[in-house]
Amino acid sequence: MNNFVYRNPTELIFGRGQLSALAEKINQHGKRVLLVYGGGSIKRFGLYDKVMAILAEQGCEVFELAGVEPNPRLSTVHKGIALCREQKLEWILAVGGGSVLDAAKAIAVGVPYAGDVWDFYTRKAKPQEALPLGTVLTLAATGSEMNKSSVITNWETREKYGTSTTFPAFSILDPEYTFTVPRDQTVYGICDTLAHVFEQYFSHTQEIPLQSRIAEAIMLTVIENAERVLQDPENYDARANLMYCSTMALNGTLAMGVETDWATHSIEHAVSAVYDIPHGGGLSIIFPNWMKYVYRENLPRFRQFAERVWQVDSAGKSDEEVALEGIARTRAFFERIGAPVRLRDYGIGDEQLDVLAHKAVPFGPIGRFKKLDGDDVREILRMSL
Ligand code: NZQ
Ligand code: ZN
Repeated sequence: MNNFVYRNPTELIFGRGQLSALAEKINQHGKRVLLVYGGGSIKRFGLYDKVMAILAEQGCEVFELAGVEPNPRLSTVHKGIALCREQKLEWILAVGGGSVLDAAKAIAVGVPYAGDVWDFYTRKAKPQEALPLGTVLTLAATGSEMNKSSVITNWETREKYGTSTTFPAFSILDPEYTFTVPRDQTVYGICDTLAHVFEQYFSHTQEIPLQSRIAEAIMLTVIENAERVLQDPENYDARANLMYCSTMALNGTLAMGVETDWATHSIEHAVSAVYDIPHGGGLSIIFPNWMKYVYRENLPRFRQFAERVWQVDSAGKSDEEVALEGIARTRAFFERIGAPVRLRDYGIGDEQLDVLAHKAVPFGPIGRFKKLDGDDVREILRMSL
């Protein structure tokens, strides 16, 4: 196991009816607030009115940044920063999915920074300060509610990068608010959660039995609850289990003492920067192919994955056979829940493979399980066609 330091200051407020905790939080952070949300789903399912009622009861002056896009754009972040500065806002409340939360994080670190917030995403600067941020999550997927990451797209340059920004001070997670998530977005959330576990599970770090078993528990729980939720979208327990899994998959728990990978996320971000496809859909296409490309780097790890997560019967089979069966079952699971498994499912052909490969390695080779350069990425994308 590697050395590590763990700190996660986000207060997680989880369960039915927990929105009521918002009132007390307002008193801690101030009355002048920027409310950030997406394309209107929160208005359609009634959450907007509930949040506004609590803000009004507490005497807040609310300024709104609506219309945050899935794959949130830098131009929208700039608007939010300008509004906060003009109106001298004290804190930010993000209500929505990962895109809304990520845009709010970018605004939070952008307001006190003298340069362009994009500097943080291109590694020119690191955030030193941030406005306080609270979130009400409506989609189980990214883990943004309990981590420092923010992923933003610069649509003018077609670049999509993630960076470390600021932890939410608090996040309210009521699984009932995910009942209305459409089937395709529910599937993408499932794929993203599994992908976050894969990025941290496929590691060369030795002697990590607890980390491995926590990761396997999350994967098994996601797999068990996936079909349950797709058959019955208003099943509270299934939604709650998926929501808890997505938070636990990317709140730092799995990375403790482990060398993590993240190459597949860099590749997916390049694809969605150019084609604006949903993140989870890109991952379900690319991950099984990344696995096929790298599994020989650590066969015992892939054998363990196949045996423990997919219950592959390994009697009499070689490590390689077992590993490949585990990878095939991963892809079959994605297909079974209706996730895309080839780039052509989004109408993407081989026209821009060079561009994508180049965009996926903007700061040098990616990944630690196997270091990948542009040629490796092109090959993985070719396998994903
Ligand atoms: O915009 P609205 O109208 O709210 O609709 C959204 C959006 O169209 C809708 N939605 C959300 N909650 C809903 C709902 N519809 C009905 N009922 C609800 N309760 O779902 C659509 C997708 O929302 P989005 O926020 O884009 O999805 P997700 O949470 O999957 O976030 C994806 C973004 O997060 C980034 C991705 O790259 C992508 O940009 N990531 C962020 C990470 C992080 N901060 O740690 C890590 C991830 O790996 C990922 O890269
Ligand atoms: Zn992800």
